[in-house]
Amino acid sequence: MALFTSALDKCLNVDDFRSLAKKRLPRMVFDYLDGGAGDEKTIARNRDAFDDFMLLPRTLRDVDDIDLSTTVMGQKIDIPLILAPTGLTRLFHHQGERLVAPAAARAGTIYGLSTLSSTSLEEVAALSSGPKWFQVYVWRDRGIVREFIQRSRDAGYQALCLTVDANIPGNRERDIRHGMTVPPSPTFKSALEMLSHPRWLYHYLTSPPFEMANVATSPSSSPGATAKGDQTLMDYVSSQFDKSVTWEDAAWMIKEWGGPFAIKGIMCAEDARRAVDVGASAIVVSNHGGRQLDHLPSTIEMLSEIVEAVAGRAEVIIDSGIRRGTDILTALALGATACMIGRPYLYALAAGGERGIDRLMTLLRAELERDMALLGCKRISDLTPDLIRVRS
Ligand code: GLV
Repeated sequence: MALFTSALDKCLNVDDFRSLAKKRLPRMVFDYLDGGAGDEKTIARNRDAFDDFMLLPRTLRDVDDIDLSTTVMGQKIDIPLILAPTGLTRLFHHQGERLVAPAAARAGTIYGLSTLSSTSLEEVAALSSGPKWFQVYVWRDRGIVREFIQRSRDAGYQALCLTVDANIPGNRERDIRHGMTVPPSPTFKSALEMLSHPRWLYHYLTSPPFEMANVATSPSSSPGATAKGDQTLMDYVSSQFDKSVTWEDAAWMIKEWGGPFAIKGIMCAEDARRAVDVGASAIVVSNHGGRQLDHLPSTIEMLSEIVEAVAGRAEVIIDSGIRRGTDILTALALGATACMIGRPYLYALAAGGERGIDRLMTLLRAELERDMALLGCKRISDLTPDLIRVRS
C-alpha cells in the first residue's frame, strides 16, 4: 500500500477535482471557471434535474467484457464522452490546451478546440493526432469565418462545431465583481489572491504572454480583434460576434465546410428541427453550462423531446451538468449519442495538469464500465429508454 497519497490521487469524482482546483487557482480565475449567469439557477438545475431520472437495471444478463466505444459523426471513439470546447484554458494551467488535446487522445476521445482558446488551432493539431473538432462562431467579418474554415481544414480537424448561444454575453456577476478581464489584470484585491497562489502566479508570469491565439494569428483580424486588457471575455465576444446571425448563416457555414458539422446550444425541439433542416450532422443540447441565459431548463430534461424532434436525422449530443457515469448512461439511454464535459476537465487540469485529466477520464471510464454492468448492459447500443424511470 502506498505510504503517501497525493492530493490528486485522493480525487474520486468531479467534486473532488473542483475542490482541489479551488485551492490551486486565484479566486477570480476559479470563479470565471466555476461561475455562471445571473443567480446561477441554470447551473444548479443542470445538476439537480438528474435527481429525477432513475436507472432501472436488468439482471442476470451477460455483462462480461463491457464495450464503451461508439461513433460520433463518423468518428469511432473509445468512450461516449467528448471534451468540450472551452475558452482560455491556459488560465487554469499554464500549458492549457497543449495538455488537454493529448489527454483526450489518450482517453480515446474527441477534443473540441474553442475559437477562444489560448493555443492556436495549428499548434494543437501538431500536438495531438487524436480526433479534433474546431468550435466556431459567426463573426461580423465573414472573411474571418472563411479563414477559420480553411485553417481547420488545413490542420486536419474532422468536424466544426458552431456555438449559437454565446453571441451575446451572459451576465457573469462573479467576473464583474472581481473585475475579471482578458488577460487578467489584477485589481488590488485580486493581486493579493494571485500572490497567495505563488505556483499559479509563477507559471503565469513566466509563460508566453496570454492571448486568444486563434484570433491573434488570424490574418484578417483587425488590430481591434484581440481582447484589450480592460475587456471581460464576454465583452470581447460581444464586440466581435454578429448578433444578427440567423439560420441562413448557419446553412452557409455548413455548405462552406462541407463535412461533419455540429450546432451547439440548442435547447428546444423547434430549433433542433431547424438545425437538421439547415444540414447539421449533429446538434448539441447545451445551455452553455448555465453561463449564458439564466433560468433555463436543464439539458437532461429537454433531451427526450429533442431526440424525438430530430427523429434520427442527426445525432444528438448533450452537455451541461454531466458529472457522473450514471449521468452519461441516463443521457445515452434517452437517445444521446455522446455527452460532453467542460468544467470537469478544467477542474482536473487546474488540480493536476495532464495527470489530472488522465485521472478524471480513468475514473469516469471505470464508473461507466461498472455502472453499465450493474445496469445489465454490455454495449452502448444496449442503452435504451426503458432503462429510465422519470419521477413524476
Ligand atoms: C466561453 O464560452 C465562456 O463560457 O466563458
